Amino acid sequence: MAVREILRLGDPRLRTAAEPVSEILLDRNQTPGARGAVNELRQLVDDLIDTMRAANGAGIAAPQVGVSLQVCVIEVKKNERYPAFPEIPLTVLINPILTPLVQNYDVLAPQDAISVYEGCLSVPGLRGRVSRPRRVRVQAVDLNGQKLDEVWEGAKAAVVQHEVDHLHGTLFVDRADTSTLCFMDEYERFVPFAERVIDGAT
Ligand code: NI
Repeated sequence: MAVREILRLGDPRLRTAAEPVSEILLDRNQTPGARGAVNELRQLVDDLIDTMRAANGAGIAAPQVGVSLQVCVIEVKKNERYPAFPEIPLTVLINPILTPLVQNYDVLAPQDAISVYEGCLSVPGLRGRVSRPRRVRVQAVDLNGQKLDEVWEGAKAAVVQHEVDHLHGTLFVDRADTSTLCFMDEYERFVPFAERVIDGAT
C-alpha cells in the first residue's frame, strides 16, 4: 500500500493534458520488454486507489499525483452524509473518452443537467456548484485491456466527468458557478440538503 502526495491547486502539473497509455501495455500478450512499464502502470493504479481511499475521495486521476497519464479511478461507498449520492463500485478508467448524451451540450436544458456541489482532493476544503450533462457515454479500458462502454447517468455522470476533466488539465473550479464557492464547514452549515445534488431528470 502506498499513499502518494496529492498535488494542490496552483501546481502546473494539474494543468497539463495527460498522455494516453500505450495500448501495448494493456495487451494481454505483451512482449517481455514491456513488463517493467506494465508493472509501473499496475503500481500507479494500486497507489491511486490507496490514495483515494486514504483521502476519502470519490475519485482521483493520475495527474493529481504528478503522473501525466490518462488514468483515473472512481469509487463511491454509501455515505450517510451524502444520501443523494449513488454507490459506485471501484472502477479503473484508462484512456477514457466521454460523450455527453444531451440535446445541446453548450446550453444544457434543465432536464439534461446534473448539478452537484463538487469538491476535489487537489482543492482541499472548497466546494462549489457545477452543472454538467446528466448522461454520458463512458468508453475506456481497464488494466487488462478489457473494454468498458457504458452510459452513466446522474451523480455518477458528474463524478466521471470531474475525473476525466483532470486528464485534460481542467479543475472543477473552472466550471463552478463562482458565486456558490464555499468552504466545507460553511457548506455543511448553509447549503440545504436539497440543493447539494440536483438531478434535472428527477
Ligand atoms: Ni478532483
